Parts: sequence; structure tokens; C-alpha cells
Amino acid sequence: MLKPRIFSGVQPSGNLHIGNYLGAITQFVALQNNYDCIFCVVDLHAITVLQDPDSLRKRIIEVARLFLTAGIDPKKSIIFQQSDVPAHAELSWILNTVARMSDLKKMTQFKDKSGREEANVSAGLFAYPVLMAADILLYETEVVPVGDDQVQHVELTRDLAKRFNHQFKETLTIPKAKILKSGARIMGLDDPTKKMSKSAESEYSRIELLDEPSVAMKKIMRATTDSGSEVKYDYKNKPGISNLLTIHSLLSGKDIKTLEKEFVNKGYGDFKKAVANEVKLFLTKFQAKYNEIDDIDARKILDDGAKRARPIAKKTLKKVKEEIGLN
Ligand code: TRP
Repeated sequence: MLKPRIFSGVQPSGNLHIGNYLGAITQFVALQNNYDCIFCVVDLHAITVLQDPDSLRKRIIEVARLFLTAGIDPKKSIIFQQSDVPAHAELSWILNTVARMSDLKKMTQFKDKSGREEANVSAGLFAYPVLMAADILLYETEVVPVGDDQVQHVELTRDLAKRFNHQFKETLTIPKAKILKSGARIMGLDDPTKKMSKSAESEYSRIELLDEPSVAMKKIMRATTDSGSEVKYDYKNKPGISNLLTIHSLLSGKDIKTLEKEFVNKGYGDFKKAVANEVKLFLTKFQAKYNEIDDIDARKILDDGAKRARPIAKKTLKKVKEEIGLN
């Protein structure tokens, strides 16, 4: 039986944090058995904003090592670097001729990222969702696991594929978004009303996967809490404590109700110490595994992944070019 195809991407920009890990990467791991998975380090997306070349090179390998550390198995899934498969850039150009300015102007991520600086933002950032559509459509993807902030881009991908199929022949598979579990939505430590982010200015807003455990513990101790003193999940009134409860629960495997009981009559201080401890345990174990994978092995896995991805992508691109009249 053929398993349905999954495609998802992670940008090698900024340092990955526990929000990326718990909210996306660990969920990818669980999908490997029931789907035919392709996970991509989307470096061409990363350069839509200016990147330092040496850091970018380093981060591409880091993301691959993080995938492997988390348990993505290159025997089951394909892991590769986007720019190693030229079909992404090619199909993206072609889809730029299918997408309309008005489609792209609606994208909330573009509006957020460009802000009032629109004139100084790269054309690549504007066309970012089209490249994402190319990623997805090249592999006849059926399911795209993404955070809720990316659903609009998957909707656009569906629209572009339908428009193409309508203008030409039925060529492209229409994908569906699979929204990653929201229970795993980790918020910023300094501002628990905003999602934990790679690009938030303050380092104290996030726990990075490669943070020194002692530094990470300090970040938890400094995390914003709420008024009152009761350790209770109530996101509306206690976003800070609720976020810390989520983090503890995901790392320790204890459910939130159990944790609430454990901390009855104990203050925020004791609770934070317990969360800091869980974070330390997790990072120590995670980093020991991470350090066992070296850069050379990770590079080989990406190269091998690109070799497997190329023929799949080429086949779709060939069909598309034929339909349009390019060959
Ligand atoms: N835009 C996605 C993000 O920032 C990353 C991405 C690029 C992606 N290409 C993709 C996700 C294709 C899913 C499918 O999270």
C-alpha cells in the first residue's frame, strides 16, 4: 500500500528553540510511520531576508542535525537541502506567472514581516509563498503539516494548483494542510501572549535547543508570570503560568491536571524551579545525542536526500513544462 506523501520545511534562520521542537519537529517524527515523508531545510526561503553567509552555512547543517537528533530517520524519510534540488527555483518561477499580485498582497505573514518598510523589503519575501507552493507541489504532496501561521500559504498553494490545472491539464496534486497540535503551541517567555519565535529580539523570550542548560534555567526563572500565586492552567488570565505548565507537561510527559495537583499550596517560585529542572534534564539529554552526530554525517544524509528528491521533483517539473509549451 502506498502511503500518502507529506512535505514540510524548516528554515535555517535563527536558532531553533523548544517551541519549534515540541510544536513541529517531534510531531514530524510521529508521522514517519504512516506517511511517506519529505523534510526540507528551506535555505532559499531563509535568504528572503539578509543572512550572514557563514552563519547560514552553519545553520543548514544544524537543522539537519536537529532533525536527526529528534528522531527523523533517513531510512524512512527524505531529509534534504532545498537549494540542492534546482527544480524548486524553476517551478517557483513558473508559479510566479500563475500567482497574482492580489493573491500575494493578502498574505498576512508578508504584511507582518514587511510592516511599513515595504519599499525596502526584497521581492523574494513577497514571492515567498510561491516558493513554498513549488516545494509542496513538486512532490505530489497530499498532506502539509504546518503551524497555524502557515495555513494561509497552504491555501494559496491549493489555489495556484487549481488555477494551473484549470488553465492547462490536471497536472498538480491538490494538497491539504494538517495543523500541528495546538497543545504544543509554546509562547514567548517574556511575553506569553506571542508565539515563541526565532526572531524575537530578546534571547530571554525563548529556550534554544543548543542553550547551555544553566542559561536555559535562568531564562525560565526570569519568565514573566502573572498576578496571583496559584499554579493553574488558565490561558486567558494566567498566560505565563499556563505556558510554563505546557512546557513542563510536554517535557515531563505528566498531564497538566497532575501538575496542578503537585503544586497546590506551592508558590510560583517552586513551580518555576521544577520547570527549570525539566528543561535542564531535557536539554542535557538532547544535546548529548546532538553531539554524537557530526557535521560530515549530516552533510552526507542531506546529499543522499537530494539524490532521492531530485527525480521526484524532475518528473513533476517535466509535466508542468510540457503543459505550458516549454518543451
Ligand atoms: N514557510 C514555512 C515556515 O516558515 C517553511 C516552509 C517552506 C514550508 N516551505 C514549506 C512548510 C513547505 C511546509 C511546506 O514555517
